[in-house]
Amino acid sequence: MKTIRDLNLKDKRILVRCDFNVPINEKGEVTDDTRIKECLPTIEYIKEQGGIPILISHLGSPKGQKKSELSLAPVAKKIPWLKFIGDCVGETVINQVRSLKPGDGALLENLRFHPGEEQNDPNFARQLSLLGEVYINDAFATSHRKHASMVEVPKLFAEKAAGLLIEKELTFYHKALVDPKKPLGVVIGGSKVSTKLDALKQIQSRADTVIIGGAMANTFLAAQGIQIGRSLVERDLFPIALEILANLARRDAKVYLPVDLIVAPSLGSKGLSRVANSQEIPAELMALDVGPASNILFKNALERCETIVWNGPLGAFELEEFSKGTFSMVETLASSHALTVAGGGDTDAAIHQMELAHKFDFISTGGGAFMYLLEGKVLPAIAALT
Ligand code: 3PG
Repeated sequence: MKTIRDLNLKDKRILVRCDFNVPINEKGEVTDDTRIKECLPTIEYIKEQGGIPILISHLGSPKGQKKSELSLAPVAKKIPWLKFIGDCVGETVINQVRSLKPGDGALLENLRFHPGEEQNDPNFARQLSLLGEVYINDAFATSHRKHASMVEVPKLFAEKAAGLLIEKELTFYHKALVDPKKPLGVVIGGSKVSTKLDALKQIQSRADTVIIGGAMANTFLAAQGIQIGRSLVERDLFPIALEILANLARRDAKVYLPVDLIVAPSLGSKGLSRVANSQEIPAELMALDVGPASNILFKNALERCETIVWNGPLGAFELEEFSKGTFSMVETLASSHALTVAGGGDTDAAIHQMELAHKFDFISTGGGAFMYLLEGKVLPAIAALT
């Protein structure tokens, strides 16, 4: 795959697909600028090489309608030297873009204000292609979407490549899952086995140590005949859960399920939680986090790993009462000597909440796109670059 470094950018307009899908508050301020900062190396590289960056992105889901609260104008304020242009296609936009000189740059308005973006409309793609002479995809977090700016626009460019963020994301994916320093530990959490099935199938053939937490652990416990009270469980997946455990055992991989859990009558029953051994969950209670003994067990199990990949919280961490399992995992990875790679919206939020992001080797900017890689799939927008 070509990267931006392989192309001559001098005096050319470079159409860069970024992912500036960032949270914006009611005052119109960006509340987390991680994705903007992560795109800066590519934007600055273009400037250094004498090119003119023309940035395009989506924000939220306006469903083909212009919605002022989903304007990219607040993002433009974060990179003040960029000119903000109030649309992304049409004669006026083309003229504004063509008047830019090396040293200038522009950010165009939300692609999803036009239905053609999500419909992958070739005509919309053609209009976008008129804005530059080179196409760069640096929107890793959108690379699982078959949208016009991701898969159709690159078809219209002879000169196209991945940006520096995509290069970094794929490098860490390679180091963490394709050719990891062994032993490889994978921590997988979240509420449902069904949403992580393809990822679990990949993990079962690669990981040496697997830690399963979150509500999905309930399904693995219950499949083995353990009574788990009123906990969330996917009964139809018992055979698959047992098959995954058997496949891991056949490879001599170590699997760790919670040995204790934080249980309560419901998610909303504040102050009524307590610790229960996994084998002793009362029939009227449900598991909402992993317990303190599990946190120690998981930490010890990961100590011998040289690479650790983490996706998915270990409990309902948005409530303080059920947050300790997830936060303990953040601390475990933050203090680990291993190469640590994390991905997924909730996982990323938990790490940032603890202000320990700088202690991780890499945190993916992708949610759905990171899952795609965990599932061993080729991202359509990356395929479109070759
Ligand atoms: C994300 O936040 O995961 C990406 O920006 C993709 O956004 P989408 O789920 O709205 O397509």
